[in-house]
Amino acid sequence: MMSIGHTPIGFFEAHFKRTPTTIVQAPGRVNLIGEHTDYNQGFVFPTAINFATTVAAAPREDRLINVVAVDYGNAVSQFSLDDIAFDHQQGWSNYVRGIVSVLQTRYEFGGADLLVTGNVPQGAGLSSSASLEIALLKAFADLYQLELDGVQAALLGQKAENDFVGCSCGIMDQLISAMGQHGHAMLLDCQSLAFQSTPIPVGYQLVIVNSNVQRALVDGEYNLRRQQCEEAAQIMGVESLRQASLPLLHEYRESLSETVFRRARHVMTENQRTLDMYSALSASDYRRIRGLMEQSHASMRDDFEITVPAIDYLVEVMQSVLGDAGGARMTGGGFGGCVVALAPEHLVPEMLSVVAERYYVKTGIQETAYVCTAEQGAFAPDR
Ligand code: GLA
Repeated sequence: MMSIGHTPIGFFEAHFKRTPTTIVQAPGRVNLIGEHTDYNQGFVFPTAINFATTVAAAPREDRLINVVAVDYGNAVSQFSLDDIAFDHQQGWSNYVRGIVSVLQTRYEFGGADLLVTGNVPQGAGLSSSASLEIALLKAFADLYQLELDGVQAALLGQKAENDFVGCSCGIMDQLISAMGQHGHAMLLDCQSLAFQSTPIPVGYQLVIVNSNVQRALVDGEYNLRRQQCEEAAQIMGVESLRQASLPLLHEYRESLSETVFRRARHVMTENQRTLDMYSALSASDYRRIRGLMEQSHASMRDDFEITVPAIDYLVEVMQSVLGDAGGARMTGGGFGGCVVALAPEHLVPEMLSVVAERYYVKTGIQETAYVCTAEQGAFAPDR
């Protein structure tokens, strides 16, 4: 058993010499399909996972925010609610500053002592940042009885990341971290923010293999993809790629650069695959699931150009073991990160041992594998 000294409460007490009044957790996520569709008002199909960020917190009577980040060697950041500047030294602190500053545009609240720790692998495309944002929002909602629901929290988290941190991410990561449902994957319409869940089938597991490819220039490439999608929509005279159709895209082919054409084609075909995946999963049609995940990966590789050779190889190896019984594809923003597989339990040991035999030999990088469960979001109603 973990001793109290090594729990978030223990760390909080050791640092702040007082007891936290609230402890909250928000999960990371894995996306089954629907990549780079969220900021194009499209469809995504994520699930919250059993890796989470924990925030322990207590209110203060003054207007100071003190944060200690256990996983950054107990690094400390302090700022006043009345003067929230971007922190050029400690990148992690900007998530806290961003959340506090967007929250202040809606609510009145006072200072806080905060302790942050977690086990969502960072830089792996499993949304450690969104889970931190949602955990912070939940902590402030609890500390100051703010009337904040999961969808509003997700929108505020996204706003903090867009406006303060400087990444033009969509709504998927924050929304699933807030509203995920235990044992289920969520089909989310990023235009209306309506969502519906379907169970991860009994006998199947969510397997995540981290390529451990060091991600480089991710934010720049991510923002560039977003601009290219917006350019395509603008040239076709539609508000977003959600309003376009493949025949319309072909009509405009000559007016779009080859690259912009392919970016738009990925998004539009990926939206359809995401809807098809929901039906296939609900109908336990694994052959179809395999096909959709395979096509999604090919589209990310060839049209959207966000995969890297090590990840392409990982997907190939995993899929070769799964055959038609399950599917594998890169998940998340891209340029490294993880592969997700929906795999029948009996094939998981073999799949992981084949990966262990081949991936390092081929790439010189050691992978990390996690067999995950689908978890409840921080704001989900029956939590
Ligand atoms: C990142 C972003 C999400 C989404 C994915 C790609 O995780 O934060 O909003 O765009 O990339 O699907």
